[in-house]
Amino acid sequence: MGMREQIETAAARYPDRRSAIMPALLIAQQAHGHLPGPVLEEVADILGVERIWVYELATFYTLFHTEPVGRFHLQLCDNLSCMLCGAERLLAHMETVLGIGKGETTADGLFTLSTVECLGACEMAPVMQVGDHYHGNLNIARVDELLDRLRASAPRVETIAPAAAPSPGE
Ligand code: FES
Repeated sequence: MGMREQIETAAARYPDRRSAIMPALLIAQQAHGHLPGPVLEEVADILGVERIWVYELATFYTLFHTEPVGRFHLQLCDNLSCMLCGAERLLAHMETVLGIGKGETTADGLFTLSTVECLGACEMAPVMQVGDHYHGNLNIARVDELLDRLRASAPRVETIAPAAAPSPGE
């Protein structure tokens, strides 16, 4: 099913099409990887709602990405419970080992590092969301182990050796 059909199916569950903006944005993000302006406008047009309503939601919630993100989006919670349990140290550590700052993506496109508001899992602070998964009770060793695991799970880009130049007479 294409994006338009999926959005129409989602919208049919709501009495008001404006209420379907959040699920529609999730569908569009899944289809496009992120939500640039033209995609937001397409979502608004499919739902027949004001474009500003779609822009407002897409730019407010950290689960929506209006800019491209890496293969793994590391979203570290930096609210109170996580801060008290060492989130600041974990952020500094990841910035050092990944060689990027908050909001940036590694040159190989593997990791984007962000901080987010409370993930609603304070009982296992400090917490980081990667994709659909929560990783809790983190410390530096666990973060290193997680980054290694994610790197190892990423599809390898094969390096193809350039073809040898034909010898004279070939
Ligand atoms: S403060 Fe981090 S999950 Fe709630």
